[in-house]
Amino acid sequence: MTARYRVALSGDFRKPDGSPVYPDFDLEPLRRAPDVEFAYLEPANPVKAEQLADFDALILLAHRFTRETIHPNGRLAVVARFGVGYDTVDVDACTEAGIALVITPDGVRRPVAVSIIALMLALTGKLVIKDKLTRQAAAGFARRGDHMGVGLVGRTLGSIGIGNIGAELFRLIQPFGMRLIAHDPYADRKLAADLGVELVDLEEVFRRSDIVSVSCPLTPQTRHLVNGERLALMKPTAYFINTARGPIVDQKALTMALQERRIAGAGLDVLEQEPPDPDDPILQLDNVILAPHALCWTDQCFAGNGAADIRAVLDVQHGREPNLVVNKAVLQTERWRRRMSDFRARFGA
Ligand SMILES: NC(=O)c1ccc[n+]([C@@H]2O[C@H](COP(=O)([O-])OP(=O)(O)OC[C@H]3O[C@@H](n4cnc5c(N)ncnc54)[C@H](O)[C@@H]3O)[C@@H](O)[C@H]2O)c1
Repeated sequence: MTARYRVALSGDFRKPDGSPVYPDFDLEPLRRAPDVEFAYLEPANPVKAEQLADFDALILLAHRFTRETIHPNGRLAVVARFGVGYDTVDVDACTEAGIALVITPDGVRRPVAVSIIALMLALTGKLVIKDKLTRQAAAGFARRGDHMGVGLVGRTLGSIGIGNIGAELFRLIQPFGMRLIAHDPYADRKLAADLGVELVDLEEVFRRSDIVSVSCPLTPQTRHLVNGERLALMKPTAYFINTARGPIVDQKALTMALQERRIAGAGLDVLEQEPPDPDDPILQLDNVILAPHALCWTDQCFAGNGAADIRAVLDVQHGREPNLVVNKAVLQTERWRRRMSDFRARFGA
């Protein structure tokens, strides 16, 4: 009998009581797939090699996957990240071990772009402070004129990154009548032109924007790309939004800019340290709106990521090249090709 194709889910998909963290992630397609079985790993961060000894595929939430996570038996063929950020995965180690890394841009594109807009509207509309005022009844109503919002028509939205999420932000924001600018060294110029986005250098995004939003990956080149010098270029009336990754921003510098009211405010779904230290001064500021790296978490986001990851691991089971492989070089290796033909022989193409 052919050994089954075994799929692991990282331990952070389950709560301590064993119930799923994200019930909207539909596992039925895995349950129904012939010759497939799946199991949750015990929580371990990073994932440990011995946990993966008997698995062909891993669906990976937020836990790290390092060089040491790779078992020497060479069985694991694919890591399917539940999302698009892969700074938690050692990509070179995957490629060397003949493991494909896939991501789920279709699942996160709309939900993250929407969460950027949610932060834009909450900041410029002074939503949080107006909520607080209302709860103070007459005293709060008396002060409502002190918190005038900022209209968006004709104002400038600048994005650092115009990829999957950055482009969707610009697509969705079209009816707001804003000026659109972006910095992205690898931008698709035609896409930018089609969306009416002017491509500019990095400093210009900070200088010109009324709202600066970050949608680039965390890499050695983008770590602390948003630093004190660049924040100093921003208008005092401008807002800063980061839904990408915390360490892209020098958070100490941002905290100072906010404390000294050198910018109007910030909306952050991501922090340099997650969860933050309870004494982190950013938690005390009234000109920042915070979310626990979860603003894009919706039923539809999880359903989309889950469906894409399951599709990818089942493609590999049948020796088909999965969509959206990050380390495309792996697909050219003899090792990968042998693996795929072995899967086709075992499970059918
Ligand atoms: N908050 C969340 O829950 C959440 C969810 C999904 C994704 N993200 C983050 O958002 C990031 C962007 O996702 P995406 O799907 O749009 O990725 P993507 O790869 O499609 O787009 C990223 C863009 O950034 C550009 N870029 C690279 N280096 C740059 C630099 N130095 N300056 C400016 N632009 C640069 C790339 O050329 C690309 O166009 C991810 O890497 C991830 O870290 C966060």
